[in-house]
Amino acid sequence: MAEILNGKLVSTKIRTEIKEELLLFKERHGVVPGLAVIIVGENPASVVYVRNKKRACDEVGINSYVIQLPADITESDLISEISRLNSDNGVHGILVQLPLPPHINEDVIINAISPDKDVDAFHPYNVGKILSADYSFLPCTPAGVMSLLEHYNISICGKKCVVIGRSNIVGKPMALLLLEKNGTVTICHSRTNDLLAEVKAADILIVAVGRPEFITGDMLKPGCVVVDVGINRTQDGRLVGDVEFGSAASVAAYISPVPGGVGPMTITTLLQNTLTAAKNIVK
Ligand code: GUN
Repeated sequence: MAEILNGKLVSTKIRTEIKEELLLFKERHGVVPGLAVIIVGENPASVVYVRNKKRACDEVGINSYVIQLPADITESDLISEISRLNSDNGVHGILVQLPLPPHINEDVIINAISPDKDVDAFHPYNVGKILSADYSFLPCTPAGVMSLLEHYNISICGKKCVVIGRSNIVGKPMALLLLEKNGTVTICHSRTNDLLAEVKAADILIVAVGRPEFITGDMLKPGCVVVDVGINRTQDGRLVGDVEFGSAASVAAYISPVPGGVGPMTITTLLQNTLTAAKNIVK
Protein backbone atom coordinates (compact mmCIF):
# COMPACT_ATOMS: atom_id res chain seq x y z
CA MET A 1 0.00 0.00 0.00
CA ALA A 2 1.36 3.39 -1.01
CA GLU A 3 2.50 6.02 1.46
CA ILE A 4 0.18 9.05 1.37
CA LEU A 5 1.62 12.39 0.25
CA ASN A 6 -0.29 14.31 2.88
CA GLY A 7 -0.58 17.85 1.57
CA LYS A 8 -2.75 18.93 4.46
CA LEU A 9 -0.12 17.94 7.01
CA VAL A 10 2.81 19.39 5.04
CA SER A 11 0.86 22.61 4.48
CA THR A 12 0.17 22.99 8.18
CA LYS A 13 3.89 22.70 8.87
CA ILE A 14 4.89 25.20 6.16
CA ARG A 15 2.11 27.64 7.14
CA THR A 16 3.38 27.63 10.74
CA GLU A 17 6.80 28.64 9.40
CA ILE A 18 5.23 31.34 7.20
CA LYS A 19 3.31 32.70 10.20
CA GLU A 20 6.54 33.02 12.21
CA GLU A 21 8.34 34.63 9.29
CA LEU A 22 5.47 37.08 8.85
CA LEU A 23 5.66 38.13 12.49
CA LEU A 24 9.39 38.85 12.15
CA PHE A 25 8.77 40.72 8.90
CA LYS A 26 6.06 42.88 10.49
CA GLU A 27 8.31 43.63 13.48
CA ARG A 28 11.25 44.55 11.30
CA HIS A 29 9.47 46.58 8.62
CA GLY A 30 6.13 47.62 10.13
CA VAL A 31 4.44 46.22 7.04
CA VAL A 32 1.64 43.64 6.91
CA PRO A 33 1.66 41.78 3.58
CA GLY A 34 -1.61 42.15 1.67
CA LEU A 35 -3.23 40.01 -1.00
CA ALA A 36 -6.05 41.22 -3.26
CA VAL A 37 -8.15 38.51 -4.86
CA ILE A 38 -10.46 39.56 -7.68
CA ILE A 39 -13.40 37.35 -8.52
CA VAL A 40 -15.61 38.18 -11.48
CA GLY A 41 -19.10 36.67 -11.35
CA GLU A 42 -20.04 33.72 -9.19
CA ASN A 43 -18.61 30.55 -10.70
CA PRO A 44 -19.32 28.11 -7.82
CA ALA A 45 -15.88 26.46 -7.88
CA SER A 46 -14.17 29.88 -7.95
CA VAL A 47 -16.27 31.08 -5.00
CA VAL A 48 -15.02 28.10 -2.95
CA TYR A 49 -11.37 28.57 -4.04
CA VAL A 50 -11.44 32.27 -3.20
CA ARG A 51 -13.02 31.62 0.18
CA ASN A 52 -10.28 29.08 0.96
CA LYS A 53 -7.55 31.52 -0.10
CA LYS A 54 -8.99 34.26 2.12
CA ARG A 55 -9.26 31.90 5.09
CA ALA A 56 -5.65 30.79 4.64
CA CYS A 57 -4.48 34.44 4.57
CA ASP A 58 -6.42 35.21 7.75
CA GLU A 59 -4.88 32.21 9.51
CA VAL A 60 -1.26 33.21 8.85
CA GLY A 61 -1.77 36.97 9.27
CA ILE A 62 -1.78 38.23 5.68
CA ASN A 63 -4.29 41.03 5.00
CA SER A 64 -6.71 39.79 2.36
CA TYR A 65 -9.05 41.82 0.22
CA VAL A 66 -11.64 39.93 -1.82
CA ILE A 67 -12.94 42.12 -4.62
CA GLN A 68 -16.18 40.74 -5.99
CA LEU A 69 -17.03 42.20 -9.39
CA PRO A 70 -20.16 41.64 -11.50
CA ALA A 71 -20.06 39.03 -14.29
CA ASP A 72 -20.93 41.72 -16.87
CA ILE A 73 -18.03 44.06 -15.94
CA THR A 74 -16.25 45.37 -19.03
CA GLU A 75 -12.65 44.43 -19.76
CA SER A 76 -11.58 48.07 -19.40
CA ASP A 77 -13.29 48.47 -16.00
CA LEU A 78 -11.54 45.32 -14.80
CA ILE A 79 -8.21 46.71 -16.02
CA SER A 80 -8.92 49.97 -14.13
CA GLU A 81 -9.50 47.97 -10.95
CA ILE A 82 -6.18 46.14 -11.46
CA SER A 83 -4.37 49.45 -12.10
CA ARG A 84 -5.74 50.80 -8.82
CA LEU A 85 -4.41 47.71 -6.99
CA ASN A 86 -1.05 47.93 -8.81
CA SER A 87 -0.49 51.32 -7.18
CA ASP A 88 -1.98 50.47 -3.76
CA ASN A 89 0.92 50.23 -1.25
CA GLY A 90 -1.09 48.00 1.08
CA VAL A 91 -1.46 45.36 -1.63
CA HIS A 92 1.63 43.25 -2.32
CA GLY A 93 -0.03 40.45 -4.26
CA ILE A 94 -2.82 40.49 -6.84
CA LEU A 95 -4.66 37.41 -8.04
CA VAL A 96 -7.47 37.38 -10.58
CA GLN A 97 -9.38 34.14 -10.14
CA LEU A 98 -9.77 32.25 -13.42
CA PRO A 99 -11.75 31.43 -15.48
CA LEU A 100 -13.10 34.84 -16.46
CA PRO A 101 -16.39 35.31 -18.34
CA PRO A 102 -16.01 34.72 -22.09
CA HIS A 103 -16.25 38.42 -23.06
CA ILE A 104 -13.02 39.14 -21.17
CA ASN A 105 -9.64 38.22 -22.63
CA GLU A 106 -7.68 36.50 -19.87
CA ASP A 107 -4.30 37.27 -21.45
CA VAL A 108 -5.09 40.99 -21.53
CA ILE A 109 -6.06 40.89 -17.85
CA ILE A 110 -2.99 38.91 -16.77
CA ASN A 111 -0.82 41.37 -18.68
CA ALA A 112 -2.35 44.25 -16.72
CA ILE A 113 -1.10 42.90 -13.37
CA SER A 114 2.22 44.37 -12.25
CA PRO A 115 4.78 41.52 -12.50
CA ASP A 116 6.00 42.48 -8.99
CA LYS A 117 2.56 41.69 -7.58
CA ASP A 118 1.79 38.69 -9.80
CA VAL A 119 1.64 36.02 -7.07
CA ASP A 120 0.13 33.50 -9.51
CA ALA A 121 3.23 33.88 -11.74
CA PHE A 122 1.00 34.01 -14.82
CA HIS A 123 2.35 37.27 -16.29
CA PRO A 124 4.58 36.66 -19.36
CA TYR A 125 7.51 38.29 -17.51
CA ASN A 126 7.27 35.75 -14.69
CA VAL A 127 6.59 32.87 -17.09
CA GLY A 128 9.80 33.79 -18.92
CA LYS A 129 11.71 33.88 -15.64
CA ILE A 130 10.78 30.25 -15.00
CA LEU A 131 12.48 29.23 -18.24
CA SER A 132 15.76 30.70 -17.06
CA ALA A 133 15.30 29.41 -13.47
CA ASP A 134 15.68 32.99 -12.18
CA TYR A 135 12.40 33.75 -10.50
CA SER A 136 10.72 35.48 -7.57
CA PHE A 137 7.43 33.66 -7.95
CA LEU A 138 6.52 30.20 -9.13
CA PRO A 139 3.00 29.25 -10.16
CA CYS A 140 1.21 27.97 -7.08
CA THR A 141 0.17 24.45 -8.07
CA PRO A 142 3.43 23.21 -9.67
CA ALA A 143 5.49 24.79 -6.88
CA GLY A 144 3.18 23.17 -4.32
CA VAL A 145 3.75 19.78 -5.96
CA MET A 146 7.53 20.31 -5.79
CA SER A 147 7.32 21.20 -2.07
CA LEU A 148 5.26 18.10 -1.43
CA LEU A 149 7.81 15.84 -3.19
CA GLU A 150 10.65 17.56 -1.37
CA HIS A 151 9.00 17.05 2.01
CA TYR A 152 8.91 13.27 1.41
CA ASN A 153 12.53 13.30 0.18
CA ILE A 154 11.47 12.04 -3.23
CA SER A 155 14.42 12.51 -5.52
CA ILE A 156 13.72 13.69 -9.06
CA CYS A 157 17.23 13.60 -10.50
CA GLY A 158 17.44 11.10 -13.38
CA LYS A 159 13.87 9.87 -12.91
CA LYS A 160 11.39 9.49 -15.75
CA CYS A 161 8.77 12.13 -14.93
CA VAL A 162 5.53 12.10 -16.91
CA VAL A 163 3.19 15.08 -16.75
CA ILE A 164 -0.29 14.49 -18.17
CA GLY A 165 -1.81 17.83 -19.17
CA ARG A 166 -0.21 20.81 -20.86
CA SER A 167 -2.03 23.81 -19.39
CA ASN A 168 -0.21 27.08 -18.82
CA ILE A 169 -1.23 26.96 -15.15
CA VAL A 170 -0.06 23.43 -14.32
CA GLY A 171 1.34 21.12 -17.02
CA LYS A 172 3.87 23.35 -18.76
CA PRO A 173 5.42 24.97 -15.65
CA MET A 174 5.32 21.60 -13.84
CA ALA A 175 7.46 20.08 -16.59
CA LEU A 176 9.97 22.94 -16.32
CA LEU A 177 10.33 22.59 -12.55
CA LEU A 178 10.91 18.83 -12.83
CA LEU A 179 13.46 19.47 -15.57
CA GLU A 180 15.24 22.00 -13.35
CA LYS A 181 15.65 19.20 -10.78
CA ASN A 182 17.18 17.02 -13.50
CA GLY A 183 14.17 14.83 -14.16
CA THR A 184 13.76 13.30 -17.63
CA VAL A 185 10.45 14.86 -18.48
CA THR A 186 7.67 13.89 -20.89
CA ILE A 187 4.50 15.96 -21.33
CA CYS A 188 1.45 13.98 -22.45
CA HIS A 189 -1.82 15.41 -23.72
CA SER A 190 -4.97 14.52 -25.63
CA ARG A 191 -3.02 13.88 -28.87
CA THR A 192 -0.34 11.64 -27.34
CA ASN A 193 -0.12 8.46 -29.44
CA ASP A 194 0.46 5.87 -26.73
CA LEU A 195 -0.47 7.36 -23.38
CA LEU A 196 -0.49 3.97 -21.68
CA ALA A 197 3.15 3.27 -22.62
CA GLU A 198 4.19 6.67 -21.27
CA VAL A 199 2.29 6.22 -18.01
CA LYS A 200 3.64 2.67 -17.56
CA ALA A 201 7.21 3.97 -17.85
CA ALA A 202 6.79 6.81 -15.34
CA ASP A 203 8.75 6.83 -12.09
CA ILE A 204 6.98 10.05 -11.15
CA LEU A 205 3.53 10.71 -12.63
CA ILE A 206 1.79 14.07 -12.33
CA VAL A 207 -1.81 14.03 -13.52
CA ALA A 208 -3.59 17.30 -14.35
CA VAL A 209 -6.23 16.54 -16.96
CA GLY A 210 -9.51 17.32 -15.18
CA ARG A 211 -11.07 13.92 -15.90
CA PRO A 212 -12.41 11.97 -12.93
CA GLU A 213 -10.43 8.81 -12.12
CA PHE A 214 -8.83 8.83 -15.58
CA ILE A 215 -5.71 6.95 -14.42
CA THR A 216 -6.15 3.53 -12.83
CA GLY A 217 -3.77 1.28 -10.90
CA ASP A 218 -3.29 -1.21 -13.76
CA MET A 219 -1.75 1.58 -15.88
CA LEU A 220 1.03 2.31 -13.38
CA LYS A 221 4.59 1.09 -12.95
CA PRO A 222 4.84 -0.66 -9.56
CA GLY A 223 6.60 1.53 -7.00
CA CYS A 224 6.00 4.80 -8.83
CA VAL A 225 5.08 8.17 -7.32
CA VAL A 226 1.64 9.53 -8.25
CA VAL A 227 0.65 13.16 -7.78
CA ASP A 228 -3.00 13.88 -8.52
CA VAL A 229 -3.72 17.52 -9.37
CA GLY A 230 -7.35 16.94 -10.41
CA ILE A 231 -10.41 17.93 -8.43
CA ASN A 232 -13.64 16.61 -9.92
CA ARG A 233 -17.17 16.25 -8.66
CA THR A 234 -18.78 12.98 -9.79
CA GLN A 235 -22.47 12.69 -10.69
CA ASP A 236 -23.15 11.06 -7.33
CA GLY A 237 -21.55 14.03 -5.57
CA ARG A 238 -18.15 12.54 -4.61
CA LEU A 239 -15.01 14.67 -4.82
CA VAL A 240 -12.39 12.68 -6.75
CA GLY A 241 -9.08 13.29 -8.45
CA ASP A 242 -7.86 12.41 -11.93
CA VAL A 243 -6.54 9.13 -10.47
CA GLU A 244 -8.61 6.23 -9.18
CA PHE A 245 -7.17 6.33 -5.69
CA GLY A 246 -7.95 2.79 -4.47
CA SER A 247 -6.42 0.85 -7.36
CA ALA A 248 -3.50 3.28 -7.79
CA ALA A 249 -2.61 3.16 -4.08
CA SER A 250 -2.11 -0.61 -4.28
CA VAL A 251 0.51 -0.25 -7.05
CA ALA A 252 2.32 3.05 -6.32
CA ALA A 253 4.91 3.67 -3.60
CA TYR A 254 3.56 7.20 -2.92
CA ILE A 255 0.27 8.83 -3.87
CA SER A 256 -1.39 12.16 -3.13
CA PRO A 257 -5.07 11.98 -2.14
CA VAL A 258 -7.94 14.22 -3.27
CA PRO A 259 -8.87 16.16 -1.23
CA GLY A 260 -5.92 16.78 1.10
CA GLY A 261 -3.07 16.41 -1.39
CA VAL A 262 -2.11 19.10 -3.87
CA GLY A 263 -4.97 21.53 -3.05
CA PRO A 264 -3.66 22.78 0.32
CA MET A 265 -0.12 22.95 -1.12
CA THR A 266 -1.33 25.31 -3.88
CA ILE A 267 -2.70 27.76 -1.34
CA THR A 268 0.43 27.44 0.80
CA THR A 269 2.54 28.54 -2.18
CA LEU A 270 0.23 31.51 -2.68
CA LEU A 271 0.92 32.58 0.92
CA GLN A 272 4.66 32.15 0.36
CA ASN A 273 4.49 34.19 -2.85
CA THR A 274 2.60 37.00 -1.11
CA LEU A 275 5.23 37.18 1.62
CA THR A 276 7.96 37.16 -1.06
CA ALA A 277 6.19 40.01 -2.91
CA ALA A 278 6.10 42.08 0.27
CA LYS A 279 9.78 41.32 1.00
CA ASN A 280 10.78 42.34 -2.54
CA ILE A 281 9.01 45.68 -2.16
CA VAL A 282 10.59 46.66 1.18
CA LYS A 283 14.13 45.57 0.33
N1 GUN B 1 -8.23 28.96 -11.35
C1 GUN B 1 -7.86 27.68 -11.15
N2 GUN B 1 -6.62 27.63 -10.62
C2 GUN B 1 -6.22 28.91 -10.49
C3 GUN B 1 -5.03 29.51 -9.99
O1 GUN B 1 -4.06 28.86 -9.58
N3 GUN B 1 -5.00 30.86 -10.00
C4 GUN B 1 -6.04 31.61 -10.47
N4 GUN B 1 -5.89 32.94 -10.48
N5 GUN B 1 -7.13 31.09 -10.95
C5 GUN B 1 -7.23 29.73 -10.94
